[in-house]
Amino acid sequence: MLGSSVSRIDGPLKVTGAATYGADFAPDGLVYGYVLTSTVGNATIRAMDVSAAESAPGVLAVYTPFAPLKLLAAAGPLGRMWLPLRDMEVGHHGQIIGLVVASTFEQARDAAMTVHVDYDVRPAVTSLVDAMPDAVIPPVTDGEPSVLTFLAEGVSSIEDALAASSHCVSATYSTPVQGHAAMEPHSTVARWDHGTMIVHTGTQGVDVVAADLAVTLGLDPSQVRVITPFVGGAFGGKVFTSAQTYLTAAAARELDRPVKVVLSREQTFSSTWVRSGTVQKVSLGADSDGTLNALAHDTWAARSALVELPGGEPSAHRTSRSWYASRNIAISHRLATLNMPPNAIMRGPGEATGSFALEVAMDELAVMLDMDPIELRMKNYATVYPGRNVPWSSKHLDECYSVGAERFGWHRRNPSPGATLDGDWYVGMGMATAVHPNFRSTTSAKITLRPDNMAEVSCSTGDLGTGMWTVLAMIGADSLELPLDRIEPHLGDSALPSAPLLGGSRGTANVTSAVHAAAIEIKRKLIDLAATHPLSPLRESPNIRYANGCLECGSQSLDFGALLRMVGSDGLDVVTSTGPGSEAQDYAFCTFGAQFCEVRVNRWTGEPRVSRLLSVIDAGQIINTKTARSQIVGGMIWGVSAALHEGLHLEPTGRLANGNLAEYLVPINADIKEAEVHFLTYPDHTHNPVGARGIGEVGIVGVAAAITNAIYNATSKRIRTLPITIESLL
Ligand code: MOS
Repeated sequence: MLGSSVSRIDGPLKVTGAATYGADFAPDGLVYGYVLTSTVGNATIRAMDVSAAESAPGVLAVYTPFAPLKLLAAAGPLGRMWLPLRDMEVGHHGQIIGLVVASTFEQARDAAMTVHVDYDVRPAVTSLVDAMPDAVIPPVTDGEPSVLTFLAEGVSSIEDALAASSHCVSATYSTPVQGHAAMEPHSTVARWDHGTMIVHTGTQGVDVVAADLAVTLGLDPSQVRVITPFVGGAFGGKVFTSAQTYLTAAAARELDRPVKVVLSREQTFSSTWVRSGTVQKVSLGADSDGTLNALAHDTWAARSALVELPGGEPSAHRTSRSWYASRNIAISHRLATLNMPPNAIMRGPGEATGSFALEVAMDELAVMLDMDPIELRMKNYATVYPGRNVPWSSKHLDECYSVGAERFGWHRRNPSPGATLDGDWYVGMGMATAVHPNFRSTTSAKITLRPDNMAEVSCSTGDLGTGMWTVLAMIGADSLELPLDRIEPHLGDSALPSAPLLGGSRGTANVTSAVHAAAIEIKRKLIDLAATHPLSPLRESPNIRYANGCLECGSQSLDFGALLRMVGSDGLDVVTSTGPGSEAQDYAFCTFGAQFCEVRVNRWTGEPRVSRLLSVIDAGQIINTKTARSQIVGGMIWGVSAALHEGLHLEPTGRLANGNLAEYLVPINADIKEAEVHFLTYPDHTHNPVGARGIGEVGIVGVAAAITNAIYNATSKRIRTLPITIESLL
């Protein structure tokens, strides 16, 4: 079962429109909210005139910082969140500064348009380059010191190590602010049901939203329930509880009416979360045989004026920190404050941006050394985690390179840049490394065996579109030795046994491990029931075994449903928790990949086209090969997007110039030709009993660098700024 290709069991629900996303919930008596957003980037609100809105048709309430909903500032599971309407400060254009609630959506929206706001406006800071001199070093970055240096004995500084290297490349790279652009806009439906707050909202963690709402609304955790069976894309943009959720829930309680708020497409860009832009300086020093003597990587990332979350793309910490076995490594992370929407994480946070800098720099070094880029990477292959000196639980990155080179036809690459022309098109190949960490988190799952011979598998995890419904059913089927159609999965409900938030590519590996453990326990419990219950036909039999849903003893066989019916049980269940063990001290855990790209660049127009992509991925045991492949392909397409299309432009006022799907460019089908995925499957039983590692993010990680390197190979133009524009290729 594990590793087979199974179509999504929720596919028919999705394609027929029967899947209920957050905004699809419509409790009786529903009223509608529309958020008011700031139209300046940096200001103090002086006054708000809401008189026209308050007397507009159908309006039930207008909440503003002058007439706020009560929200308690307290730390939830992810720290202290910014809460709307608590003061008069505006930190970014699009900040939520009010909520209008009315009988219909149109009434709420139209009334919101009549609100007049007076601001004391300050100049907005919108350029990372301008803000860099004021950047601060945060105390912690990605769980480590923000400035981190590992020097070989006798080496006094990274500068000395660079100076002592016979070959040195040093360059500055930059990446833009990006929006998650998930298909499903952020929304919240909240209902105050006799002392219980019931919420539906697209989120990466129903438990996180429930806990955040409990602390901000001053409720007992048992009084909040978040139910979200389907999420239409998240990518890090639904990790943190969004501002509209707090307001919607508080309004529902105050008005004692169910309230729905759905953000407009523009508001999902301006009023939720973004990925920070970065400026990164990378210096590589090597011996003439390619041995890395020094690796320095400094990151300046943007942080929103609004949030105190750690945030801000830990680019060096998630790449140069651990990717290569350099004798000397020095990394740093600095944060510069901009008047931009709050920065969250986004697919491959740190890795996707950091690899653009590191992996392009590696390509530049390979050119300088006249060395094959794969050979250079193999020359500096890390077998222990730098500074910790522990091995990875399972690492086959070397095989990713060799299998990838073979499958992609890397030997056909002409190492001379700009030398391959096919008609009007320059052709080039590039590659890059992709690494993403894995996180083992405490996870609980419940299995219920029912008298009708069905098994329920339950966990509060969600399905962001990744295929978790199917994965839950598959791991249930595999570990209970049952056909898939005898498993009933349940997820996306904070009342179910708790799962970690779906971030850091941790969903599948953690949830399957918990189900696996629960299956072992429920089998034991079932055998015990068969052996001890007075009405069991197997009572006092020795050596009862569980196989394929049946209890077996000698020549006797009894399916679990029959046993439960005989003993009059309406179901047998267990809840089991699993989490990290002592292995965390002895190993590092990462998913690895080698990513290859072929581009064609028009010699007259500079138009770049990605003609072929390949990822070879080492992610341990793959659970569902079909949806796993989709994850990697989706990541690669996003990598194309990052390389050639995406970037949010902050106008000097702080307004997003292109915060909409017409002008925020992402690839369409015609932009993607071949995107192939090959999995190496070495189950990683050191990481967890199922042997699976994460795959949600690794697919994006190296793609922008591979494309940039391929463009250099095609055109001899070295680009260090994303997205790559046609102008830069002319
Ligand atoms: Mo992912 S960016 O860790 O939600």
